[in-house]
Amino acid sequence: MDAPASVDCAAIDRYAPDVLFTPRDGPLQIKNARNLASMRRAGRLASECLAWIVDQVVPGMTTLDIDDLQVQFAERHDVVPAPRGYRGFPRSICTSPNDVICHGIPSRDVVLKDGDIVGIDVTLIVEGFHGDNATTIAVGTPGDEAAALMRTTLAAQRAGIEAVRPGARIGDIGHAIQQVAEPRGFSIVRDFVGHGIGRGFHEAPQIPHYGTPGRGLRLQPGMTFTVEPMINAGVPDVEIQADGWTALTADRRLSAQYEHTLEVTEDGARVLTVQNDEGRWEPPGRWWPPGLEPDTD
Ligand code: MF3
Ligand code: CO
Ligand code: CO
Repeated sequence: MDAPASVDCAAIDRYAPDVLFTPRDGPLQIKNARNLASMRRAGRLASECLAWIVDQVVPGMTTLDIDDLQVQFAERHDVVPAPRGYRGFPRSICTSPNDVICHGIPSRDVVLKDGDIVGIDVTLIVEGFHGDNATTIAVGTPGDEAAALMRTTLAAQRAGIEAVRPGARIGDIGHAIQQVAEPRGFSIVRDFVGHGIGRGFHEAPQIPHYGTPGRGLRLQPGMTFTVEPMINAGVPDVEIQADGWTALTADRRLSAQYEHTLEVTEDGARVLTVQNDEGRWEPPGRWWPPGLEPDTD
């Protein structure tokens, strides 16, 4: 009764077979109450960590300085940052400036300057469970295109999350994201997807950020997964750098990403990577893109 159930996921592989980054550390796990309590604590701490880091990012900082902050936070809270050593990833956090879509490796050589945007992706392991939370912020003052891209990506992520409820299908989530992003002239990255999450960093199912309403696996209470759209100013195509990780836009235009970890509840969804007790959506890192302040949203 207490053991997590698992769901056959062959249909999921047929649904999104072409993604580049599709490691699965296990089958689709339906979490029990005790698992979910740990997931909530992991999500909340990841959210606190991301907000704490975001508040300290200033022009002149390197992305390795951001990694140092992640290491400090993890030591202080006695938790493990999941990226370090994960499939050979060399650092504790992903930092993805400007034309980096995701999986940027923190480096002493990458100096953030006024007008840059940077994606920061925190994943912590708490009580054996993962909380995965990412945001994109401006360093100093962003340009108009950067601000519009961040606003759209944040709105798209929120719309995707609002499509999550028992009985809805995975395709409904991606469709909701497309409805926000594509009319505004932006493109959605297809080579990376959201993912089930729990004891594994990347469990089944895959959550594409595009989709057909009514298609794909049916959602049920106790599923936990991420919604983490990556949206590009130009083409959706990805180029992986020689380091094997850094994913760049093929046209070197800007990319933004927002990620939350969610739980499907009896009547909707709870956002786990937030700092409110109700699991209400809030911007990851609690940073709002210019022009999208809470009151005007
Ligand atoms: N946190 C990323 C995600 O959202 C995965 C990073 S894998 C790493 O799924 F190895 F680069 F850390
Ligand atoms: Co993720
Ligand atoms: Co992440």
